[in-house]
Amino acid sequence: MLEPSRNVPGIALVGSGSAVPSQTLSNEELGLRVETNDSWIRERTGIANRQIIGKDETLTSLCCKAGSLAIQMAGWEPESVDLIILATSTPDDLFGTGPEIQGKLGATNAVAFDLTAACSGFLFALVTAAQFIKNGDMNRAIVIGADQLSSWIDWDDRRSCILFGDGAGAVALEKTSYEKNGLLSFKLKSDGRKRNCLNLKQSTDHLSLVKDKSHQKGSYLPIQMNGQEVYKFAVKEVPAILDLLLKSSNIESSSIDWLLLHQANQRILDSVADRFSIPHEKVLSNLSEYGNTSAATIPLMLDEAVRDGRINTNNLIATSGFGAGLSWGAALLRWQGPS
Ligand code: UT7
Repeated sequence: MLEPSRNVPGIALVGSGSAVPSQTLSNEELGLRVETNDSWIRERTGIANRQIIGKDETLTSLCCKAGSLAIQMAGWEPESVDLIILATSTPDDLFGTGPEIQGKLGATNAVAFDLTAACSGFLFALVTAAQFIKNGDMNRAIVIGADQLSSWIDWDDRRSCILFGDGAGAVALEKTSYEKNGLLSFKLKSDGRKRNCLNLKQSTDHLSLVKDKSHQKGSYLPIQMNGQEVYKFAVKEVPAILDLLLKSSNIESSSIDWLLLHQANQRILDSVADRFSIPHEKVLSNLSEYGNTSAATIPLMLDEAVRDGRINTNNLIATSGFGAGLSWGAALLRWQGPS
């Protein structure tokens, strides 16, 4: 889908922020828990360390830090924010963690809510926020991608526990002119037929209530993943959706300044880059230090590359998120930065 047409405003990405927990868990340390080793994990995934929320941090505290840094970079007052969307599958409160973040940020005029689309969540939330800005009377939005999968991993399952870490990333979006639009195009997709490849499912424990009535106890099973199926899905669908976007936008892959994919596995990043002949130095990756932080990976990587000067004003970024659902999506972005 191309956007916007000439008579609607554009969306500018004007700030970013991120936060990770202070506790680092290395591959060697994981080897104390399950039968694995540093070389297997590095070779198969590119991951060396991941950050895990410990005693003194919460997902909400990471989100507040990331959101606050994005607001600061954009040069906004918190009261000027109209919308906060928190993309997460692991909220601190199932009724919604977005409003707590809104309160703590002092964004008193913003409406805030959560959106769940697993590892695609940030991209889905970014596109959702853009629609409010484009179609409604909202001018400024904070989109946060954050997850705490460490709470839901089976730490005795070596096929999945090596992959994931915790973190939060945020971007500040602002209404702008058609000419300055930074969301050049996007496409989002779902395939619920493949939902069993990756789950964090409610358990089906039924407890007796009264007489012959029962109720379902509220609790969730640990993450279950068919790694090979998810891998095959990613290396097929991510290039396909990016190809579609590039063609519909009349943009050559050689014009891409940065390939910013969901950080799931270095082999997936390399495979997608090779498909488009994108040199590996244009592929953003921080997997080695953070692992797969689910909805946080894209804004966490974006913020790192903005702050260390790799991403500059007007850089063209091809981004794609993918994961449970199954869900996936892609967008072509132009980074604006603060004015
Ligand atoms: O956001 C989306 C989230 N999910 C993903 O992105 C997952 C995508 N998939 C992957 O990244 C890869 O499939 C994995 C990294 C999960 C697994 O890599 P793989 O190359 O597909 O390995 P495999 O599952 O085919 O396992 C190969 C071997 C097996 O041994 P045998 O049966 O060949 O003897 C596994 O038992 O490696 C063994 N193995 C391990 N060995 C050491 C599996 N996990 C481990 C481990 N350490 N942690």
